[in-house]
Amino acid sequence: MNVKPDIKGETSLPGMIDRFGRAITYLRVSVTDRCDFRCVYCMAENMTFLPKKDLLSLEELDRLCSAFVARGVRKLRLTGGEPLVRRDIMVLFRSLARHLKSGALDELTLTTNGSQLSRYAKELADIGVKRVNVSLDTLDEAKFRALTRWGDLKKVMEGIDAAQAAGLHVKLNAVALKDENEHEIPTLLEWAHGRGMDLSLIEVMPLGEVGPERVDQYLPLSLVRARLSERYTLEDIDYRTGGPARYVRVKETGGRLGFITPLTHNFCEGCNRVRVTCTGTIYMCLGQEDSADLRTPLRASESDDLLHAAIDDAIARKPKGHDFVIDRRTRQPAVARHMSMTGG
Ligand code: 5AD
Ligand code: SF4
Repeated sequence: MNVKPDIKGETSLPGMIDRFGRAITYLRVSVTDRCDFRCVYCMAENMTFLPKKDLLSLEELDRLCSAFVARGVRKLRLTGGEPLVRRDIMVLFRSLARHLKSGALDELTLTTNGSQLSRYAKELADIGVKRVNVSLDTLDEAKFRALTRWGDLKKVMEGIDAAQAAGLHVKLNAVALKDENEHEIPTLLEWAHGRGMDLSLIEVMPLGEVGPERVDQYLPLSLVRARLSERYTLEDIDYRTGGPARYVRVKETGGRLGFITPLTHNFCEGCNRVRVTCTGTIYMCLGQEDSADLRTPLRASESDDLLHAAIDDAIARKPKGHDFVIDRRTRQPAVARHMSMTGG
């Protein structure tokens, strides 16, 4: 590994640039594949989870994340499954927060289903987390129960309240689902904007077998946008959070609405991210099967040299993009793994 001393005499490692010239500055880490919900578009009803012994320890996750920070990652998101159901997860958050203090990291954040957020919001804010993404597809209690199979909307609402009370910026993510929540999108939008939260809509992606047919779930956001335009004035804005969402301002509410459209509009050319699972497997693209094992090099020695070499090999294989298809003829998911392995 080519190590250059920087001005302070510390070592700085080369950044990660892929074959297509994309700089990788965003790492998403799924800290557990488990979840206290079973959302109908994410998981099957009977999921088999990884044996606990296969998981990286919190110390190993810290080392792995820190190696990526040394390689130029500026934004780190912990996901799951549900990240807040991993035991002692705050130990990892607290430890990773040192990279915020040192200035190596611009942002430490998480994506959560909100069920445990009322317990952790204050502490997250205290260690320097500024924003959280909460997944919420409906405001109707019965529908919420049906979509999450196991979830309790009241707990999630308490979580959102606690997060806002702690000063965290909450962004809502809703998966747009045909016949399920499509008629509720205006309600969700007005509620979110009324509370000062952005809302992003997401097209359902063909990841893993979940039970229901994807084609019965899939609702193209081009359609949603056209319908919303009949009711609201949607103004294109330049606002970007470094991700695939394209935002509009809803004139009537004053709030921002994002569209994440992996199906109707592929956005891979600007991809800046890789994903690591709780077993230390790196996925270079959400929509492709290719992966690399980082756990073996991580565990093989106390120095990070082997790990960095494995990261370089993986980044060099990052594909140009995904090619998701959902139609009646394509019965196979694009990839066999569920979203809960990589956390979106
Ligand atoms: N397609 C699109 N979004 C999904 N999510 C989970 N599974 C899918 C899927 N198959 C969403 C969750 C959460 C985020 C992590 O990913 O609702 O907002
Ligand atoms: Fe859990 Fe999120 Fe998957 Fe729902 S979408 S089952 S909350 S990991």
